[in-house]
Amino acid sequence: MPNHLTIVDHPLVQHKLSLMREKDTSSAVFRQLLREISVLLAYEVTRDLPMTTKTIETPLVEMEAPVLEGKKLALISILRAGNGLLDGILDLIPLARVGFVGLYRDHETLKPVQYYFKVPDDLAHRRVIAVDPMLATGNSSVAAIDLLKGAGAKNISFMCLLAAPEGVARMHEAHPDVPIVTASLDERLNEIGYILPGLGDAGDRMFGTK
Ligand code: URA
Repeated sequence: MPNHLTIVDHPLVQHKLSLMREKDTSSAVFRQLLREISVLLAYEVTRDLPMTTKTIETPLVEMEAPVLEGKKLALISILRAGNGLLDGILDLIPLARVGFVGLYRDHETLKPVQYYFKVPDDLAHRRVIAVDPMLATGNSSVAAIDLLKGAGAKNISFMCLLAAPEGVARMHEAHPDVPIVTASLDERLNEIGYILPGLGDAGDRMFGTK
């Protein structure tokens, strides 16, 4: 397993993921579980955030208290399914800046097509966390990271719910500097680019579309 890949094998994450995978899980429950898992994944992605201290007063004494250092994080949702992970991270880091990259996957070529790009200023000075539930072929994720680097981002992490070995390899080849955090490294892609065993189309499962 490449060392830039972290699989969060926490029992709560794995239990919630199994519920999400079940085909009869409703969209409402699926969204709620995704939101909950995203908090737990975000805990791992942000584990190495730089810290500093500031002087505060407790009711008893003065102390040097640890606080986050530097500019606020930038969270980038890769539309549309990324929004399901975004909501959970925003519960944890409500002051983060938020951007959106709109990419859809052409079902014939499996290649990403860009239709929207709006990100915070100063990406160069922010820690950036890009989120998309499914790292499948890696084409969309690589394209999104290309765009973020083009906008100045230098310190990027990628957070997803499920990853396929093919997508991890593609990301590692294109962006070896971008660590990936996921809840599961699944077996493989099928012939039309879906992750197996997977959970189907994350966007459709979230929003009840087909
Ligand atoms: N996107 C999805 O939503 N599901 C997959 O299995 C692959 C890509």
